Amino acid sequence: MAGFQPELLDETEVEALLSRVSEEEVERARERSLTPLKEQILVQGETGGAAVRDSTGKEYIDCTAQAWTLNSGYCNPDILYAVAEQMKRLTHVRYGYPTIPRIKLINRLSGLFPGDLHKVAINNEGGGFALEAAMKLAMISKPGATTFLTAWRGYHGASLATLAASHYMPYLTRFPGYGLGHYVKFPYPYCYRCPVGLQRSTCSLACLQLVEGAIRYGVNTPVAGLIVEPIQGPGGMIPTPAGYLAGLKKLCQKYGIYLIYDEAQTTFGRVGAMSATHLYGVTPDMMALTKALGGGFPIGALLAREDFKRFTDVEEHTTFGANPVMMAAALASIEVVLRKDLAGRARRLGEQVTTKLKELQGRYEIIGDVRGPGLFIGVELVEDRETKQPAFERAIALLEIAIQMGVIFDVDMPELTGGLPTRRNVVKIKPVLTITDEQMEKALQVFEIGIQKVSALTEEDKGAIMQKVMAQALPT
Ligand SMILES: Cc1ncc(COP(=O)(O)O)c(C=O)c1O
Repeated sequence: MAGFQPELLDETEVEALLSRVSEEEVERARERSLTPLKEQILVQGETGGAAVRDSTGKEYIDCTAQAWTLNSGYCNPDILYAVAEQMKRLTHVRYGYPTIPRIKLINRLSGLFPGDLHKVAINNEGGGFALEAAMKLAMISKPGATTFLTAWRGYHGASLATLAASHYMPYLTRFPGYGLGHYVKFPYPYCYRCPVGLQRSTCSLACLQLVEGAIRYGVNTPVAGLIVEPIQGPGGMIPTPAGYLAGLKKLCQKYGIYLIYDEAQTTFGRVGAMSATHLYGVTPDMMALTKALGGGFPIGALLAREDFKRFTDVEEHTTFGANPVMMAAALASIEVVLRKDLAGRARRLGEQVTTKLKELQGRYEIIGDVRGPGLFIGVELVEDRETKQPAFERAIALLEIAIQMGVIFDVDMPELTGGLPTRRNVVKIKPVLTITDEQMEKALQVFEIGIQKVSALTEEDKGAIMQKVMAQALPT
């Protein structure tokens, strides 16, 4: 078996390629990159932990787990070991070839989640591709049906099809998506801002009637599937209320529509359980996975009920879609999540953090709502608790203050009203699940300092923030 010594290159050359960069190189890359690059150049993650260092040596506690992905920490040693061992054996095969990691991963994912989700398709792209696979499978299984229902402020990917299925963000993207006629949107059960203006205690889930209305009156063609995040992530960290998913499932069964869960963000411990399906106990017909599945390596998967037909050789083919390295990573990542009981860790720590945040809510008027579950936390900032006007500029300013102080947070997706962005006022706290108590404590201290500072912003300050946001929105 080949070792890990370079043959043509020498070790110092490789070291330089990976860990040293000049100002001039950075500047040139920033000019040439077609996609915007953030300011911090990240170079070293804490082994199995929540901290990451940038090229200036500054360390950050990352409360984003890099797009809520590194559940078992940066550079998790077990995942790295499995990857390195697999790399010595085989790094690339064409899509049709099984490899040992692929066989094991199909079997591992089959039946890992509740319900009859025993059929598996794996890709190297992530969640959007898994959702497109779900759409294809629904259309194969219900010939002639090409319409999908998706939720307000749902997010399902950046391909032209999944963009069409998602919330439109006109100041962040110039693409509404292709095939818009195939998607019909229904209101998500966002209880803090109820789409029908009711209170949860007395609403009897009236919003489900709107979903039924969309099925009966919103489409002129048969509906193949209903795609929903059981707990909305990019839309604002919004859990569906008790009974809602069961109601959706009933509607799907009544009208012969496949229920497709987008669990891109909500699996492998993040929500204090292995999945949102575990948490709610309502099983879908299909489930799309990605993010923590690969422990930092690119992978997505579609799980489907046993009775679905299969794809042909080419319907899911991509050049790199059978990459055995990412599959080795996923096999190790699943074991780490289970053996470390990261779901239990997220549940316990998540409860402590949300309790603390609710205390802060008692002291700071701008905290309108605190939502979980687990380490899937959103803190909604408002200008006024009565009107619930989103405190967009304050949330953006808080991110800036926090990163200066060495903590990375993020916010939800925006909306555009009267040509200006709004919403984007839910601060997300979703660190790696292995974050230490001390790191979490420090991150919360920084969060509180940020809340204090942004509570004091004037209208003038907010105007300046909005101007800066707009200037950065569409790159030249
Ligand atoms: C809920 C949800 N679904 C789907 C996706 C798309 O996944 P990917 O970016 O891997 O295509 C994302 C990505 O952020 C997501 O958060």
